[in-house]
Amino acid sequence: MNSIELFKSKGLRGEITPPSDKSISHRAVMFSALADGKSRVRNFLRAEDPISTMNVFRRLGISIDDNGDELIIEGKGLTGLSEPFDILDCGNSGTTMRLVSGVLAGSPFFSVLTGDDSLRQRPMARVIEPLRLMGAAIAGRGGDKYSPLAISGCRLKAIKYKMPVASAQVKSCLILAGLYAEGTTEISEPFKSRDHTERMLKAMGANIDVEQLSIKVASHELKAMDVTVPGDFSSAAFFIAAALMLPDSEIMIRNVGMNPTRTGFLDVIMRMGAVITIENKREVSGEPVADLLCKSCDALKAVSIGAELMPSLIDEFPILCVLATQADGTTEIRGAEELRVKESDRIKAVAEELRRFGVSLEEFPDGISIKGRTDLKGCIAESYHDHRIAMSMSIAALAASGKTVINNASCVDISFPGFFDRLRGLSR
Ligand code: S3P
Repeated sequence: MNSIELFKSKGLRGEITPPSDKSISHRAVMFSALADGKSRVRNFLRAEDPISTMNVFRRLGISIDDNGDELIIEGKGLTGLSEPFDILDCGNSGTTMRLVSGVLAGSPFFSVLTGDDSLRQRPMARVIEPLRLMGAAIAGRGGDKYSPLAISGCRLKAIKYKMPVASAQVKSCLILAGLYAEGTTEISEPFKSRDHTERMLKAMGANIDVEQLSIKVASHELKAMDVTVPGDFSSAAFFIAAALMLPDSEIMIRNVGMNPTRTGFLDVIMRMGAVITIENKREVSGEPVADLLCKSCDALKAVSIGAELMPSLIDEFPILCVLATQADGTTEIRGAEELRVKESDRIKAVAEELRRFGVSLEEFPDGISIKGRTDLKGCIAESYHDHRIAMSMSIAALAASGKTVINNASCVDISFPGFFDRLRGLSR
């Protein structure tokens, strides 16, 4: 399936459970591999990105058995990984590359991390520089800017580091390196990014303290643990947006991860006038979870969003832009320069593709402004091989007149295998 045809929808009805959380799936595999003894991971996301993480840890000598129901991971402790026989392929996954680099910097052997064409163009100086301050022997292509990364693991020392950008990947890389360092590593971030690493490591007995924007971590062994991965809020967001935009829609989205460092999109759409009913709040493996009842809203209002909100809706930027086309007034999103270095340049991709749907917008170096409300017109859209662009443009297609073709649509498998079938199943 490389291009897909979509038509205007009369609305969405029914119930859906989103795929499991991608960020938590990566971490469950990584931290279980580094713990002492056997861990089980239920509801692991069997999508391309977390499978890259699983394959990397298998190549580092960890036994991971997938019995279809759960993963059984035989952790070998912080120092139990073995030198890989070949380069480690992280595929499209920035989370795999950046987090694993922190582990390998402290593991006493040689390793090389690479990835696909997109990942090899994403910035890696943001992990290379602080890891070197910790004493790591790490180098990257293009004068230490990009991957492949070559790492000769060695003894690390603790540092105090003020992160220039809010990034959970960089933060998690340094927390993991901190598990190998002599002394207490202190990290602070400009705005709060997702905190799945801190929550899971704490539950596994790590020596980690979090105080608002700063984290202290010192070396300590990890206890094996069973983890159940909740549904991914970022995957649910496409369905939330579709239900709001399409007429006569009502869907129940079950088992959605509601970690407050991830749900900035909900806060913003409520400011836009959406009514979302949050039901059955509960906790699953230390993460808040709920069911969301979402209905059409024909009175969406434009909003302005700045840098402080970006980390909590970083992956929802493309779908929020699609939603903005259906809001009264001009929506402006600024402080979003990080979106230029995701799986694609998501500001440019969204601007180019929404223009094809007939949207009037302005692109800025750090964001976009979008004029609503626009009658979207079916078109031929590109995915840029970026899963979130493909899914966002698919939702735009359901609101657009006539036929839309999305080219290179199979990249949805990075985070959401079966996306199009689920969409068809709910659409009337
Ligand atoms: C992720 C963090 C975010 C996010 C990515 C997954 C993670 O990246 O965009 O999809 O799992 O830690 P940054 O932390 O680099 O912004």
